[in-house]
Amino acid sequence: MSFTLQPAPVARPNRCQLFGPASNTKLFEKMAASAADVINVDLEDSVAPSDKDIARKNAIEAINDVDWNTKHLSVRINGLDTPYWYRDVVDLLENAGDRLDQIMIPKVGCAADIYAVDALVTAVEAAKGRTKRIGFEVIIESAAGIAHVEEIAAASPRMQAMSLGAADFAASMGMQTTGIGGTQEDYYMLREGVKHWSDPWHWAQTAIVAACRTHGVLPVDGPFGDFSDDDGYIAQAKRSATLGMVGKWAIHPKQIGLANEVFTPSAEAVAEAREILAAMEQAKANGEGATVYKGRLVDIASIKQAEVIVKQSEMIAKG
Ligand code: COA
Ligand code: MG
Repeated sequence: MSFTLQPAPVARPNRCQLFGPASNTKLFEKMAASAADVINVDLEDSVAPSDKDIARKNAIEAINDVDWNTKHLSVRINGLDTPYWYRDVVDLLENAGDRLDQIMIPKVGCAADIYAVDALVTAVEAAKGRTKRIGFEVIIESAAGIAHVEEIAAASPRMQAMSLGAADFAASMGMQTTGIGGTQEDYYMLREGVKHWSDPWHWAQTAIVAACRTHGVLPVDGPFGDFSDDDGYIAQAKRSATLGMVGKWAIHPKQIGLANEVFTPSAEAVAEAREILAAMEQAKANGEGATVYKGRLVDIASIKQAEVIVKQSEMIAKG
């Protein structure tokens, strides 16, 4: 380990973030009653420009009136390239009660974007005497966002989570796809005339995980558009979990259970992790730094790997 220790992210479950447009008020109660850990009420791209004002009012009413129970409650504001975002921030922080936990800033391109929102949020919080500090989460969904991903992760102590937004990311990168995440037909290797599909999101995901882990931020996989394709969603989510992401968005209620399943360490995985920890305890007692578990090497690094799974499982159990 470097002399600089890796900071721990906030300890709360973030397996599924359920989105719903703030223009569709009939969804709020359903979102609150869902099994998602995080709720994202959307003011941005699922709301038509003509509905921005009413959506903002709806979001404030919903924050104040709906029983959100233990959900982590976040509102996605509009991007800093729009005329809407400052009013999103000001109206939310002036009128929404302390039930609001977080705001999500879309399409961030550099640390200064976070700095600008932080300055505005800090001023409104002070003016209104808000004592609960609002957290930030961001979406990396542009070439600039991924190019500056590390400075963005480090941009503010308010930073809690960072998601990959596949659709806007693909557009900004000039990728030839209209799909929102998942397998892309033309991204394959050929071997003896047989196609083997690769993962075009892999690099961006890994860059996000590295930036997040360096700065104590939760890395999250974004939306999977085809909500009729459960297997495709699960495959994408499993790849994300394997790379170190802690959760995934749901844009339809049927995706919530899938995300919770993938991002909750299985009983078998937890049992095996505990066995590895026990085997290493035994090795330590014998004065050894490495031992054999089920025919394979485990050593001091294995303790850290096993602890990731055990700690994640204990944190989820606590809720
Ligand atoms: N949250 C909670 N409940 C939802 C929901 C959501 N995001 N989306 C749909 N539902 C509910 C519906 O109201 C319906 O409830 P009912 O059985 O009581 O009538 C049920 O789930 C089934 O919905 P369905 O008919 O399959 O979908 P739909 O046509 O009503 O809506 C979408 C489809 C995609 C428009 C809708 O799911 C949606 O708005 N998703 C979020 C989009 C979004 O926020 N995008 C921004 C982030 S990328
Ligand atoms: Mg987007």
